[in-house]
Amino acid sequence: MTAALDRRFGPFDGGVWLNCAHQGPLPHPARDAALDAVAAKTAPARMTDEAFTDVPARLRSALARLIGANDDDVLLANSTSYTLNVVAQGLAWRAGDEVVCVDGDFPATVLPWRTLQDKGVRVKLIGDGDARIDADTVAAAIGPRTRVVCLSWVFSFFGHAVDIASIARATREHDVWCVINASQAVGARPLNVASLDIDALACCGFKWLCGPYATGFGWLRPQLRAQLDYPQPHWLRAQSARGLDRALDYSLPDNVTASAFDVFANANFFNYAPLAAAVEMLGDIGIERIAAHDQQLIDELIQSLEGSKYELLSPASGEQRSTLVYLSHRDAAANERIAQGLKQRRIAIAQREGRLRVAPHLYNSTADITRLTEALSELG
Ligand SMILES: Cc1ncc(COP(=O)(O)O)c(C=O)c1O
Repeated sequence: MTAALDRRFGPFDGGVWLNCAHQGPLPHPARDAALDAVAAKTAPARMTDEAFTDVPARLRSALARLIGANDDDVLLANSTSYTLNVVAQGLAWRAGDEVVCVDGDFPATVLPWRTLQDKGVRVKLIGDGDARIDADTVAAAIGPRTRVVCLSWVFSFFGHAVDIASIARATREHDVWCVINASQAVGARPLNVASLDIDALACCGFKWLCGPYATGFGWLRPQLRAQLDYPQPHWLRAQSARGLDRALDYSLPDNVTASAFDVFANANFFNYAPLAAAVEMLGDIGIERIAAHDQQLIDELIQSLEGSKYELLSPASGEQRSTLVYLSHRDAAANERIAQGLKQRRIAIAQREGRLRVAPHLYNSTADITRLTEALSELG
């Protein structure tokens, strides 16, 4: 029997939330930080001047610690798409350049590059549509005009993880930038960007990091950052760099850190304070421990499927197994009815592309998995 790893979540109103791949619930310290931010905006005298710089700095540090990065290489975003667009729009392109993406990847990973079509940039989709690719497939797809390879670490519609270490090694050997969408992984899988050859990472804050919507972050390798022409001047950033007594100085700051690409969000305490609290909490618990907990629950779920009317569609074991588990009734046409039955029983999972997706995280327990498997068996 596995208990919830942390009880600072919920209440879930009698329901079971097994849909973290869609969105994660705010933990209590994050909820409290959000309520404090609302209180400070309700009575502004409570809001300190220091918070304008301290809150984003604290968030940047918490995110950097989570992925083994330097604070200077982390940008604050409002989504995954934001960082991917900074890279896509910031690089200099020539007609005939190529970007390699994966057929079957989440659209946010592909669309930013599609906008470059009018500059003559081609998006090449690789694989057979089920996103099952490896370093050899990627290396084989790289041609003389390939500039970027962009793909997810964990695939939303199939549930498997790819080996980003060997893929990034292959792109580095070919002198091609490697850009990773880690939205379905960071918070549930340990990551140390310093040990990888990837060049940029984009992530949202509202799934496995259990932060609010309209949050996200990016990590940019300094060599890639130096290539980006994406002016994002914000008066407060310029002013903080110079000191508050030189407000009427219109010169641009000489900011060479990734914060130069932060999304405009002056005093975004409603979002940044709770995301910082959530990320610090996960970091304190330890991502290794969280990953082990989540995988234990997934073992229990997979074991319960043996000899049942359901088949497992995502990997059963190994490094390719993620925290997204895809199932289908052996009669796939029954999945719609089963999803409705689970909803009536207040068991939240997702239905994607006709398949059932279960995504547990640190607030789930064996009791939640049992409630799901018993319902699946009744409905099957
Ligand atoms: C792999 C992946 N990337 C990105 C997103 C979300 O993109 P954004 O943060 O830009 O809304 C999702 C899900 O919503 C996702 O599954």
